[in-house]
Amino acid sequence: MAGQKKLLRALAGEKQDVPPIWMMRQAGRYLPEYRATRAEAGDFLSLCYNSDLAAEVTLQPIRRYGFDAAILFADILLIPQALGADLWFVTGEGPRLSTITTEADFAKLGPASDIHETLNPIYETVRILSRELPSETTLIGFAGAPWTVATYMIAGRGTPDQGPAHALREENTALFEALLARITEATIDYLSKQIEAGAEVVKIFDSWAGSLKGADFDKYALEPCRQITAALKDRHPGIPVIGFPREAGEKYVGFAKATGVDCVALDNSVDPEWAAANVQLDGCVQGNLASRHMVTGGQDLVDDTRRIVEAFKNGPHIFNLGHGITPDADPDNVQLMIDTVRGG
Ligand code: CP3
Repeated sequence: MAGQKKLLRALAGEKQDVPPIWMMRQAGRYLPEYRATRAEAGDFLSLCYNSDLAAEVTLQPIRRYGFDAAILFADILLIPQALGADLWFVTGEGPRLSTITTEADFAKLGPASDIHETLNPIYETVRILSRELPSETTLIGFAGAPWTVATYMIAGRGTPDQGPAHALREENTALFEALLARITEATIDYLSKQIEAGAEVVKIFDSWAGSLKGADFDKYALEPCRQITAALKDRHPGIPVIGFPREAGEKYVGFAKATGVDCVALDNSVDPEWAAANVQLDGCVQGNLASRHMVTGGQDLVDDTRRIVEAFKNGPHIFNLGHGITPDADPDNVQLMIDTVRGG
């Protein structure tokens, strides 16, 4: 494995003295250069669909910090839009979509095969990045997991408890499952195109996996992730996949084996020592520093960072936060985290 990029080595199962590091939402509003480029693009969605500017914001944290990986700049809600849902962002509040709660709403969605017309600029962003990234930096593509994407499509917005999606799951299971199947199919094609364009790893974000319990978790979080991973590895042998069933808790155990993902990303609600003993035994893990440290900094940040590196040092590990960095973070705290990981 000598000569391979650090992130790919971790995903192949190699334990390293200094783990590779990147950060969820590393291109984001805490960076002044991101805010400037976003203003130039006009708004968030225009930035996602402007390949040159989306590539630029993806590169900004790589230039500033030298992270081991860059994650494509886009959003998990572009898939619903490409399937025909209306999508817009309300400043200070978040995303809004046309809702899907009836068969008639579902019938208005296009087939999975139609998504590329909308999503072609995203593949172009990937192509630009695979040319422009430093040779040691790994390019990560991504999509939302079907359950998480469906929670937004059903409710038409983010919800604290995913109530509307749970209600549809109970009241019209056939429609709910048809929606999940459509998103799954579109996601496989979308990630496949990202890989063809140059993504070297893909990550599946299931931000609301934790609200599915017991058999529902297995059916609607684990199984779609398994299907997507199997289809991608069939089409692109050897492509590494990172799964992020956020707040899965005990359900993190065995997730990699059951789905075939090469790495499980952990949120910060699980202790690193527990995760090392129960999750890392199956392969690479990613995580899991609390994002609040990027706001508060100081000795607490250093102590928790060291604790995580120490806990995972006997196996393959990718250092990351447990969730995305927030807009109120201090860029200097990001540097302190990186220096602590790389310098001890
Ligand atoms: O990690 C990265 O840097 C890659 C790009 C990325 C974004 N969103 C950019 C973004 C990724 C991987 C996402 C994933 C995403 N998007 C998720 C899953 C991960 C998670 O955070 O749980 C979800 C649920 C979304 C949907 C979404 N997009 C919401 C709820 C919001 C609004 C919340 C907010 O922070 O304002 C977005 C907007 C968004 N996506 C921003 C960024 C950088 C902020 C947009 C801005 O500039 O105003």
